[in-house]
Amino acid sequence: MRRLLIVSNRLPVKVQKSKNQFGITPSAGGLATGLKSYHKSHDSVWIGWPGISVGSAKDENTIKVLLEKEHCLPVFLDNKMIENYYHGFSNATIWPLFHYFTEYIIFRATYWRAYKEVNLLFADRIIKHADKNDTVWIHDYQLMLVPDIIKEKRPDLRVGFFLHIPFPSFEVFRILPWREEILKGVLGSDLIGFHTYDYARHFISSTKRLLGFDVNFNQIRLEKRHVYIDVFPMSIDYEKFQRKAYEIQSKPIQERSKEHRDIDRFLLGSPNRKLILSIDRLDYTKGLTVRLRAFRHFLRKYSGYREQVSLILLTVPSRVEVEQYQSLKSEIEELVGSINGEFGTLNWNPIIYFYRSLPFANLIELYCSADIALLTPLRDGMNLVAKEFIATKTNHKGVLILSDMTGASKELGEAIAVNPYNIENVSDAIYEALNMSDEEQQRSVSIMQERIKRYDIYKWASEFIEALDKTKEKQAEYQARIVSEDLIKTLKIEFAKAQSKILFLDYDGTLQKFYDHPKAAIPDKELYEILDIIASVQKAELVLISGRDKDTFNEWFGDQNYTLIAEHGAWIKPRNGRWKERKSVHGEWKKNLIPVLESYVDRTPGSLIEEKTHSLVWHYRKADIELGALRALELQDDISNIILNQDLEILEGNKVMEIKVTGINKGNAAFEYLQNRNFDFIMAIGDDWTDEYLFQELPKSAYTIKVGTDKSIAKYYVDNYRDVRELLKTLTKKTNNG
Ligand code: UDP
Ligand code: G6P
Repeated sequence: MRRLLIVSNRLPVKVQKSKNQFGITPSAGGLATGLKSYHKSHDSVWIGWPGISVGSAKDENTIKVLLEKEHCLPVFLDNKMIENYYHGFSNATIWPLFHYFTEYIIFRATYWRAYKEVNLLFADRIIKHADKNDTVWIHDYQLMLVPDIIKEKRPDLRVGFFLHIPFPSFEVFRILPWREEILKGVLGSDLIGFHTYDYARHFISSTKRLLGFDVNFNQIRLEKRHVYIDVFPMSIDYEKFQRKAYEIQSKPIQERSKEHRDIDRFLLGSPNRKLILSIDRLDYTKGLTVRLRAFRHFLRKYSGYREQVSLILLTVPSRVEVEQYQSLKSEIEELVGSINGEFGTLNWNPIIYFYRSLPFANLIELYCSADIALLTPLRDGMNLVAKEFIATKTNHKGVLILSDMTGASKELGEAIAVNPYNIENVSDAIYEALNMSDEEQQRSVSIMQERIKRYDIYKWASEFIEALDKTKEKQAEYQARIVSEDLIKTLKIEFAKAQSKILFLDYDGTLQKFYDHPKAAIPDKELYEILDIIASVQKAELVLISGRDKDTFNEWFGDQNYTLIAEHGAWIKPRNGRWKERKSVHGEWKKNLIPVLESYVDRTPGSLIEEKTHSLVWHYRKADIELGALRALELQDDISNIILNQDLEILEGNKVMEIKVTGINKGNAAFEYLQNRNFDFIMAIGDDWTDEYLFQELPKSAYTIKVGTDKSIAKYYVDNYRDVRELLKTLTKKTNNG
């Protein structure tokens, strides 16, 4: 049976040593808290760092045994790795960069080396542990190189990757000195998931711009396979939170406070006092200092609320070795002290501050007791606390104030949305929340609950895994059509024994790679040799069939013993014959179109116009990838009126847009050429969709081969022009031998 391996830097439990004994406690942070319910309910194995560094093999073994009960497999890291990979590259380079805190980023080659080393270590552990065809689900920014390493070594595995933090816009991501390596690392996956559409679109944009891959909707087309990108907003174990909330609320308040001494002060203190709750890891991305200033502003502006509200500020210790986290802690504590000093009375503390992690029951107690949740991160991939707060509102009463910089705000539209940098806005939101009617609260909470309940953590994870399976199925369909060794053998035999054979070969992208400028794609010596050998085989005919203009084709191949079909079939030159025009046209129509195309060249740096007898082509391969695609759409729209009733059509190729005379295509050219002639071996190879006409018109017995990974009616696929050349060489080798 196929197993699921979950892989993340941190395991769902942390190992700790106290009084010479190892024990475990739950890990904090959304990834671990969210996924652990799914892990428990499935027969999965979780691979990750146990959060402790031990020197001896004996201790490592003890930890291994301890974690086995949790279905966890530890990856041990030494202190240097923790310093350079975890505190360093993960949390002092990627974390601030991806959260737009560019001023905090540290670039250091030692960090990068350690990141590569630890990613290799994780990949190694996965490879050793995974059985054939297992599913490997890698999580988060600490392990972005792992997918590519395992894909390379174990192509049998299904590899999914999920990023739990934002993916920044291209303008920010491009700062990273190792940006290409990071992208390539993640692209080793079959499916890549993000919390929101914005993060997905930023990732796609960076991939297009930095690596030049084509993208079709949510598929990134690599040379040998497609990688799928999709949005899966992470959720929580809704039932678990509701159940616990009901359980806690069913107890009398005195009993509750006895059990949870930490919080009895609020529950018993003043029944009329409203409680505002703030829960986060202590992290600069969470906007804690601005939040405190906004609360101070609220107490100043709405002074009537003094003694009527308290803010419970629970900050969970996190990454204490990183400098910014230490200074932030001092800053928060100073602010809390100053606000309490300014407004506090003998009976009332405006802010009740905790710096610790709470057990689950206490956390739920807090959620249940709070009237308002004030969650104002400056940037947050998702923010599960917001969903957890809503899930515990069994009587549907409560108000959520949520930063619009969080992934969760995209789903929780009924919350009061705030710009966390806007202190006025946040303090007014607190006032609004305190004055919201019960009906309004119930309406908003019920809608949000419905949504979280429907798309809970189980649904989230199973949708991801299902999408990953589908991706693999699509890839398998494509793999089955790749030209195999067996097929090559058959082709050689068929080619050798055929009495009359013909090969239709496209040029750009099929026999030659793409160049920025079309004129640069001159045929090289190797290509001439390959083609000449084919053309010299007895009873074999070689046809080069291309969108190229006739003059260029004539210059390159006019003296060779090949048949040439140029401009998508507008011109034909039988071998040793003369050029013939299949459809005669006058070029008047171009006069109107050239100025339009010129305006596009002016406004799209890097693009250029090519003129052929039957068409005008706008090339944008060298233009900015996104601007080029956008302008192509614009151009199409612009000229649709001009070409109306003019016997013209638009043909979209690979980074080119061609306006050409209608009724001519490679398909009808080939069809005409084959009329009244008999061939017992027909083969056609092409790479873009203009070649689909050709594939379509050939008899069923023809061997049709598509170059690349795009959808095609061709029977078979090869990866690239180099494979085409190899295939052609092999074909004739056999023929020559015998
Ligand atoms: N949390 C916890 N212990 C605490 C307080 C909070 O484990 O004392 C959990 C909380 O329930 C939530 C997670 O930590 O599930 C925080 O996730 P979130 O997505 O809000 O932020 P992240 O820490 O991942 O940035
Ligand atoms: C965020 C990250 C997680 C990380 C968690 C806690 O949720 O997305 O990958 O585990 O914070 O941070 P830590 O550094 O303690 O693992």
